[in-house]
Amino acid sequence: MASERTMSIIKPDATERNITGLIIARLEGAGLRVIAQKRVWWKKKDAQKFYEIHKDRSFYKDLIQFMTSGPVVLMVLEGEDAIARNRSVMGRTNPVDAEPGTIRKDFGVNMQRNSVHGSDSPESAQREIDLCFKKAEIIG
Ligand code: RTP
Ligand code: MG
Repeated sequence: MASERTMSIIKPDATERNITGLIIARLEGAGLRVIAQKRVWWKKKDAQKFYEIHKDRSFYKDLIQFMTSGPVVLMVLEGEDAIARNRSVMGRTNPVDAEPGTIRKDFGVNMQRNSVHGSDSPESAQREIDLCFKKAEIIG
C-alpha cells in the first residue's frame, strides 16, 4: 500500500480536556505523520459543510451543535494506508464498542463526544482536506 493522506479532527470534547497532545502521540505512534495542522473554532456553516453527507441523519443537528461548541484541531495525516490506519487507531464510533487501546476507548466520552474524526474513504479524505486546507498549508 502506497503512502496516503487522510483528514483528522480532534473534537471539542478533547480540546476542552486539554488532551490534544495525548491524542497526537497516539496518531504518531501508529505511524502517521502530521503534515498540516491548525486550531480553529468552527462557525455553524463550516460544520454544516463538512458534515453535509449526514444532513438527513437524526444526529445531524446535535453533531453541528457539538462541533461548534469549542475549538477543534484540524490535521492532515500522511502514512502508509493512512485512512484505514487512522480509523484503526481511532476505534469504533461508540467508545463502549471501541477496541482496547484505541483513542475512542481511552478518551471518548460517548457516541457523540468521541474525541476524533477520521476520513472514511479516499474520496472523503480528498474532499475534507480540500475543504480545510490550502495547498500551501500542507507541508509533506
Ligand atoms: P467521524 O465521521 O467523526 O470520524 O465518525 P464515524 O465515521 O465513526 O461516525 P459517523 O457515522 O460518520 O458519525 C459522525 C459523528 O456523528 C456523531 N454521531 N452521533 N448520537 C448519535 O447517534 C451519533 N451518531 C454519530 C459522532 O460524533 C460521530 O463520530
Ligand atoms: Mg464518518
